[in-house]
Amino acid sequence: MTAVSDTAAPTPEPLLCAAFAADLDAADFRSEPLRSLWGSEADDALARGTREPILRAISGDDGVLATLGRLLVLGMPQPTAAVEAALPQLGVQGLVSLGLATLTEDAVTPTALLRPQSFVDADGIGEWWIASDLDEVALDGALPADHVLGVGGASRTLAEIVMPLEVDRALDLGTGCGIQALLVSRHAASVVATDISARALAYAELNAMLNGARNIEFRLGSMFEPVEGEAFDLIVSNPPFVITPRVDGVPEYEYRDGGLVGDALVEQFVRTAPSYLTAGGAAQLLGNWESRVVESGLDRLSSWVPADVDLWVIQREELSPLGYAELWIRDGGTTPRDAAFTRLLTAWLDDFEERGVSAVGFGYILLRRPANPTATPLRRIERMPQPVSNVGGALRQGLEAHDLLADGLPTTLFTASDVTEARHLLPGNDDPSVIELRQGGGFARTLKVDSALAAFVGACDGDLTVVQIVSALADLFEVPLVDLWADLEPRIRQLVLDGLLHG
Ligand SMILES: C[S@@+](CC[C@H](N)C(=O)[O-])C[C@H]1O[C@@H](n2cnc3c(N)ncnc32)[C@H](O)[C@@H]1O
Repeated sequence: MTAVSDTAAPTPEPLLCAAFAADLDAADFRSEPLRSLWGSEADDALARGTREPILRAISGDDGVLATLGRLLVLGMPQPTAAVEAALPQLGVQGLVSLGLATLTEDAVTPTALLRPQSFVDADGIGEWWIASDLDEVALDGALPADHVLGVGGASRTLAEIVMPLEVDRALDLGTGCGIQALLVSRHAASVVATDISARALAYAELNAMLNGARNIEFRLGSMFEPVEGEAFDLIVSNPPFVITPRVDGVPEYEYRDGGLVGDALVEQFVRTAPSYLTAGGAAQLLGNWESRVVESGLDRLSSWVPADVDLWVIQREELSPLGYAELWIRDGGTTPRDAAFTRLLTAWLDDFEERGVSAVGFGYILLRRPANPTATPLRRIERMPQPVSNVGGALRQGLEAHDLLADGLPTTLFTASDVTEARHLLPGNDDPSVIELRQGGGFARTLKVDSALAAFVGACDGDLTVVQIVSALADLFEVPLVDLWADLEPRIRQLVLDGLLHG
């Protein structure tokens, strides 16, 4: 059994949080001022788990920002007098009362980290103060099983894919430090944030108070238990989807591991979430899915989705069982130099072998309960290994395009303003051998097209209807209209779905 934290969870208290926020604000305790203080190279080194460059850069600096940086960003004890001067409204005693530090005679010892977190979502750049448990660097050792994670790569990934929708009720399942709940709270009348961990909920509530979010309700419980019988317009979740062997001696971390075998937690989520959605409501989550010798992971995932629910899945990467095992063993802090590595690797590979797992996919899952129950549900399965960022708007646009096409192609189409065309010609040749349409925003898709489709897209400026353009092209290319229509129509629909054309 993995050890649990030896420090208590924070104690959120509104007045103390307001005083703390005022102090942090006055100190300009934000990402950019801190990065300027210690330099971008040192800042990047911390992201890789090394704090020494920051310590060197601010060595001897006992100013307010440097003191708060060492105390809250790095999680290191600081002289009581310096902390008292840095937090004039909250005071050292207030920090202790919030459960974020302990006090000895002459030093304040942090029991949590608190970092400014800038992020990008569909609204642009934002920033929060996020408290979470001391990390491996601050603890100088392995994480306890009940560790509450700060904002990590997966948190940012989910934030970048959440659709910018104004909604009435939103749910963040497995809220952890509360980052997703904070993000969606900007566009929701009310948010319910749940977690199986009371410790995580304490952090999430503290973070909501610190950042002035008043429309989030916190509930303890597993999966959908805390919201039984309720319905939401938007569900977001970065669930504990990591596949972990269920054998003695393999560490289990609450923040990444839901306690089920294989990808059963993701399966349960996908099967259950639609019954907690309003008509037109959407659920977005990150997940892993196992390809088995008998069935691909994407086929298994599709089979979990109720027949009347829209599914859009984007597989971002696929790892071999060995690659996956190494990734998550290292993530737990065990390297090949540690004696436990081989034992853990064997446990992971045995576990995969038992279920005939040939690969593990990772990606984004979007489920939607269609507003029109008679519409043909979307089944969109894509593999997208290239880097993408901030695609929440593109996902929303893709769903809108699916709805638009349910009534047939619009009479008139327009080329999206971010589309450009690239023509590749063999030297000395006037006819292009390859024509590409490139999307500047969204998923930044590049599509190979022929000259007929390129000419069609070029003519979509609103002057002519779709049928008029295709008729003119049939005359130009001297082909029967019916043949050209049969050839172009499905590809025009795809360009609408991909956001290169719109109605
Ligand atoms: C990967 S963390 C995500 C935290 C945060 N939402 C983010 O995006 O950074 C997963 C969270 O799910 C919680 N969790 C684990 N098992 C759960 C369960 N059965 N039901 C609800 N939450 C669970 C963990 O405590 C953890 O806070």
